[in-house]
Amino acid sequence: MTKTPTHYFRTPVTAPGPLGQSMVRSMGAIRRNPLSYLNEVWRQHGDVVQFPIPRPPTYLVNSPEGVRRVLVDNARNYGKSTIQYRALSLVTGDGLLTSDGPTWRAQRRVLQPAFHHDALADLGSHVAEATARIAREWKGIDERTVIDADAFMMNAALEVVAGSLMSTDLTGQSAEIAAATLEALDVVIARARVPITPPSWLPTPANRVLKRSVARLDAAVSTMMSARSSDPGADLLGMLLSVRDENDQVLSVEEIRDQLVTFIVAGHETVASALGWAWGLLAEHPTVADAVASEAEAVAPSRAIAYSDFPHLTYSRAVVEETLRLYPPAWLITRSAGSSDRIDGVEIPAGALIIVSPWLLHRHPDLWDNPEVFDPSRFASDVPRFTHIPFGAGPRLCIGRDFSYVEAVMVISELGRRFRVEFPEGQSLPPGEPLVTIRPSGGMPLHVHPR
Ligand code: HEM
Repeated sequence: MTKTPTHYFRTPVTAPGPLGQSMVRSMGAIRRNPLSYLNEVWRQHGDVVQFPIPRPPTYLVNSPEGVRRVLVDNARNYGKSTIQYRALSLVTGDGLLTSDGPTWRAQRRVLQPAFHHDALADLGSHVAEATARIAREWKGIDERTVIDADAFMMNAALEVVAGSLMSTDLTGQSAEIAAATLEALDVVIARARVPITPPSWLPTPANRVLKRSVARLDAAVSTMMSARSSDPGADLLGMLLSVRDENDQVLSVEEIRDQLVTFIVAGHETVASALGWAWGLLAEHPTVADAVASEAEAVAPSRAIAYSDFPHLTYSRAVVEETLRLYPPAWLITRSAGSSDRIDGVEIPAGALIIVSPWLLHRHPDLWDNPEVFDPSRFASDVPRFTHIPFGAGPRLCIGRDFSYVEAVMVISELGRRFRVEFPEGQSLPPGEPLVTIRPSGGMPLHVHPR
C-alpha cells in the first residue's frame, strides 16, 4: 500500500490512494480510458481508494461488503446528487433515474406496475416482432458482407422500448432517435469527465449538439403524447397520463416528458450494448454459440421463441449474465454521502463522492476464478450476493432488470438458433469504450451465416 499524506487542501485522507502529482500525470490516460485507470489504482491501493480530489472527497469502493453498505444497508444516506447524474439530467430532466428522496419514491410507486408480469408478456411479443424483422434482414445479407451487430441491436432495442412501454411504432425513425440519444449522451459524458464545464445556455458546439438532440427526443415524445389524447391506454405512457399525485393533480407535460425520455435513454442503449457484446463473445466462442442454438431447438422445436419459453432458456440466460459480468453497460454507479459513514472500516466524510464500478467488481480475482475468461457456466447456479451487480442493488435497483433479461435472452436465443456469427478475417472482439455505457469501439463487425 502506498503511504499517503494526511490532508489534501484540508480534506482528511482516510483511505490509501494515488498522490495528487501521480493523478495529474495520469490525466491523459484517465480521459483515454478511465477503466484502466480505475483498475490500476484499485490494484495498487485496495478495495477502498481515496482519490486526491478535495471537493468532493472521492472514493472508489470495490468490495461486496462496501457495495452493500452504499447501495442497500445505508442507501438512504447515499443520494444521486453527483456530477454524473447532474450531467445526465440535462437530457432526462427529473425522471426516475436521476430524481432523489420523496420525489423518487413517489415516482417509483407510480411506475413500478408498468414492469409487472403481465406487462412483460406484452414485451415478449414486441421482442419476437423485432427479432423476426432482424432475422429477415440478416437472411437477405450476403455472407461476405460485414454487418455492425451493435447498430442492429441499438435500433431493435429502441423499437422494443417504444413499442412495449409507449405502444409507439418507431420502426421508421429508430435510427434517427438512437443517433440523437447517443449524441446527447456523448455531450453528457464529456461534461461528467470535466469538472468545470461551460453552463448549458452558452452556445458552445457541444451545447448546440445537446440542444439539437434533446429537441429531437422531445419531438418523438410529444408525438407519442398527442397520439393519446382520447384514450390513455394501459402501458407506461398510459399510466403516466392517468395517474394523480397526492393533491389529485395529473402530472405536468414536463413530468411526463422527463419520464419518457428517461425510459428511452435508460432502456435502449443499455440492452443494446449488452446484446452487441453478446454477439461478439458468441463469435469468439462457437461452442457456446452452438449450445445456445441447441437449447433453443430443444425448447421451441420448429417455431419461434416466445415469452413463455423464457423460464426454460437457462443456458441463454447464463450467456447474458456472463456478458453482463464482463461488459456491464452501466460501468459506473455514483453516489453522494449525505452524512459521514464507515465503509469497510474506512471513515467517509459527509459530502463524499462514492464510485462503484460493476466492471471492476466483476473482474475482482477474489470473487471470480479466471475473471477475464468468458464462461457462462459460472451462472449455472446462483453467484454470491453483491458480486454481480450489472443492474445495481437495493432500492435503486434497475426497474428494467427483468425486462432486460426477457429481451436479451429471447433475442440471443432466437437469432442464435438461426444464425452463426463470425468476425471478419483478422478481426476480433473490439476494445470497450467506456461512454455512458461500455460500447464496442468501432461497432461490432461480424459476418452472419444462416445455420
Ligand atoms: C442490460 C440492460 C440494463 C442495465 C445494465 C441497466 C443498469 C442499471 C443500473 C446499474 C441502474 C442503477 C443505477 C444506480 O443505482 O445509480 C439502473 C437504473 C434504472 N434503469 Fe436500468 N439497466 C438496463 C436496462 C434498463 C431498461 C430496459 C430500462 C427501462 C425499460 C431501464 C430503466 C432504468 C431506470 C428508470 C432506472 C432508475 C431506477 C430507480 O432509480 O428507481 N434500465 N439501470
